[in-house]
Amino acid sequence: MSTLLRLDELEAGYGDLTAVSGVSLEVRQGEAVALIGSNGAGKTTTLRAITGLLPARGGRVEFEGARIDGLGSAQIVARGIAHVPEGRQLFPTLTVRENLVLNLGVKKLLLVGSRELSRAILAEAPAISGLSAGSLKRSAVGFLATRALTISDDEDWRRRRAFNEGVLEPDRTHELAPKFIRCTLEAFATPVSSVTELRAAMGRTMLGVVFGGKAPAQLVGDIEKLFGLVQSPIKRALTAPCAHRLRERFYRTLRARWSEENAGAEPSLLLMAYRRGAALDGTELIEQIPHWMFTFTGSATDLLVRTLALISSAPVIRARVLTELREAGPLDGACDFAATPLLEACCIEAAHLYPPVTRTFHRAARDMNLAGVRIPPDMEIVHLFPLFTSSEPGRFDPDRWMQSAVPGSSFDPFLGGARRCPGRTLILLVCKAALASLLVRQQLVLESSQLRSPLPQAFPGRGLHFGREP
Ligand code: HEM
Repeated sequence: MSTLLRLDELEAGYGDLTAVSGVSLEVRQGEAVALIGSNGAGKTTTLRAITGLLPARGGRVEFEGARIDGLGSAQIVARGIAHVPEGRQLFPTLTVRENLVLNLGVKKLLLVGSRELSRAILAEAPAISGLSAGSLKRSAVGFLATRALTISDDEDWRRRRAFNEGVLEPDRTHELAPKFIRCTLEAFATPVSSVTELRAAMGRTMLGVVFGGKAPAQLVGDIEKLFGLVQSPIKRALTAPCAHRLRERFYRTLRARWSEENAGAEPSLLLMAYRRGAALDGTELIEQIPHWMFTFTGSATDLLVRTLALISSAPVIRARVLTELREAGPLDGACDFAATPLLEACCIEAAHLYPPVTRTFHRAARDMNLAGVRIPPDMEIVHLFPLFTSSEPGRFDPDRWMQSAVPGSSFDPFLGGARRCPGRTLILLVCKAALASLLVRQQLVLESSQLRSPLPQAFPGRGLHFGREP
């Protein structure tokens, strides 16, 4: 294995303070190296010195055989090495009013920090050659389904958007809502005691909602594996032949479901797609479906876990939610969850504090002047959702979403404008039904010692305990 990164007697510090000295280490291709030490031991200083955020005062740093200490951080990033700070500390100096242009040598990237600018950008329908983070998003999503997301030009996007809105029915109670509630309650009837089991229950819900329950259960595992590969280009490269076989098997199953004579007999999103899909050809339709699927097992499960944990961490709110659910009627599938505004506010607040989707990308198609900022054509634009939420108080406060108008400073993780999520109403309905089942029927609480006020910057990935409480 060749050496990728080598530190030799590195020294770095701040002002008069020498924070680290004599650090030597080597990272070889394909290797994961952990730097372990107590708070203040100099881990971050070492990393900052590697990426040029802090000048090295002594020793040397080599990347792919070439010396990089002494280069500026932009030059170091352009060589392919960057520092990813933990939690939400990305760009700690960027306030919610600022926008940052990162000059990465080959391209310029606009990191949007102001809500006003973000809103102005998102309000516009995408224009030619799309909105991807360039090759990153294109290749990752393209691997799963070339057209599954909004990576397309004007006219294609409009057609697909109209189709998605026709099937997902944003902003109104879905015509299949009673069916979706029934299948969610059924999927969440099995007692759960881990995040994995919650994800599996959301997978069963997805099979009901998307396929009317008539699809092999194996599709849930397949979509998760494929999405895992989408998120990891390295894993994808390493497992290329078997990933290819998996993808082929997945699409074969989808095509078979689609073309089965009575594919549409059972009410489902697929049936609606079947009936309303005239504007799209079969291949295009099949390529939309994976996105519907992986948002359930991915983002929607994350949202569910976070909401459950936050409700459990706030006993007064939990008691109010339980009262609201009792008053909404029996959980028998007939209840439409329209009368559960507090539970809905809990979901939105959880998504706001800990967004399940953390960023979105665009490319400026033309010279734009939005919210007083000039954006040249071809500029890549990144909206990092945690930036929009960081100024909020660190406490779980669903009530602020119950006021008639959403507070002006608040940022909706489902987005607004032309780019808003068309699955918002549907997935909130599913999450509310799942939460009702977990909180009322299973009397579940999901506790974490870290979810105390002020809340941590990032949702705790560990130390979640499932329990039952009447
Ligand atoms: C917690 C769950 C979810 C969150 C937080 C979420 C959030 C988002 C966001 C932020 C976007 C905009 C992405 C972009 O343009 O870059 C988006 C787009 C989209 N979402 Fe969701 N979503 C969720 C669940 C779902 C579900 C369950 C479905 C379908 C069943 C869905 C369907 C879509 C579609 C089709 C688009 C693309 C819209 C377009 O073509 O412009 N989403 N979603």
